[in-house]
Amino acid sequence: MFKVDFSKTGLKEDFSLYQEEVSRCHRDLHEKTGKGNDFVGWVDWPKNYDKEEFDRMLACRKRLEGKYDTVLVCGIGGSYLGARAANEMIRGLYPKGVEVIFIGNTFSASYLSQVLDHVKDKELVLNVISKSGTTTETSISFRIFKKLMEEKYGEGAKERIIATTDKSRGVLRALADQEGYETFVIPDDIGGRYSVFTPVGLLPLVLAGVDIEALMKGSLQAMKDFSSEKIEENPTYQYAVARRMLGKEGYRAEMFVTYHLQLTMLAEWWKQLFGESEGKEGKGILPTSACFSTDLHSLGQFIQEGDRSFYETVIDIDDMGADLVFPGDDKDLDKMNYLTGKKLSWVNKMAFEGTLSAHYDVGNVPNIVIHFDDNSAYTFGYLIYFFFIACGMSCYLLDINPFNQPGVEVYKKKMFKLLGKPE
Ligand code: PA5
Repeated sequence: MFKVDFSKTGLKEDFSLYQEEVSRCHRDLHEKTGKGNDFVGWVDWPKNYDKEEFDRMLACRKRLEGKYDTVLVCGIGGSYLGARAANEMIRGLYPKGVEVIFIGNTFSASYLSQVLDHVKDKELVLNVISKSGTTTETSISFRIFKKLMEEKYGEGAKERIIATTDKSRGVLRALADQEGYETFVIPDDIGGRYSVFTPVGLLPLVLAGVDIEALMKGSLQAMKDFSSEKIEENPTYQYAVARRMLGKEGYRAEMFVTYHLQLTMLAEWWKQLFGESEGKEGKGILPTSACFSTDLHSLGQFIQEGDRSFYETVIDIDDMGADLVFPGDDKDLDKMNYLTGKKLSWVNKMAFEGTLSAHYDVGNVPNIVIHFDDNSAYTFGYLIYFFFIACGMSCYLLDINPFNQPGVEVYKKKMFKLLGKPE
């Protein structure tokens, strides 16, 4: 059952002390009067999303049905992480059916060469995603893989390349129109890291066979559940206020903790959302992540006894869809028979409970625990919207524009100079 538990945070202050501030920020978010108000289209999107565009995505999948076994998704940052997080959370790391491979997110020739080699005999669809249409990592991959598609399919490549970009601006829009690709639109008022519910996230997912209708239903339910301005009725605002209080107490980092390897990319998505939204003007809490119990064998020592300026936000999912029962062994040479007949989901739960107590009761690390039902598409939609609202509120509480990323340009400028890019 969905629930946010603050009982292991050690927070003494009453959340309601923040009600006035939260109400002001709530109005800014919902009435579009706050900083970056040109980019709050995502707030009502679960209700107001473009139904025609949505049906076109379903039709696109139908048009290509049976013609592909691999989808190449070419994008970076907000044009990449949401789809990957969803694909792995919902379908797992080695899913049956369509394989989804992400490119456009690196300059690594080693990685791109491996992908080129891996897909050469596959039946491909290529979805290039870029709002600006000029992102260098994405443009480099796209040119390389467009060439592969043209060599492999000739004129037919056009049918298999789909561009998701701005409705009228940017070179990708012009290129797609000129080449005659099918295109999908990234709305003007939704920025990259808030765009999972647009074709940026939904098109790769529908091509992978994910139930995007259920995903949007989850987001709509979240929109209804998290619409109150009252902190006591709105868990997203409780989470945002708890972050603010912990920040004020001197906590400098938040560790997003999961207990399943297929949630690692969800953590990457969350890190971008909070990092790029909140980390500016010398403010913000550093978003970091770990996957337990795996990382208890690498970071566990630090978490237990190192510097105390971080807290954990733990994602606990009741039902991940698959389970295993630990088998007995007559010889018991490994001395593991004490677990015979136990489910691994139970073992993982005991690891979660033991770790929570070790970190909070012994290590004094505040822990916020967020429980979700399962790893379905519906829950993914619900979870994403929860963090969207929490992030918008967190930034407004810090008086920060959640929707720009001026600092990202600095590395680009330096790199372009070195690359000799014309002005
Ligand atoms: O959240 C963001 O705005 C960024 O992460 C962008 O999505 C990322 O830089 C990619 O930009 P674009 O979609 O223009 O290629």
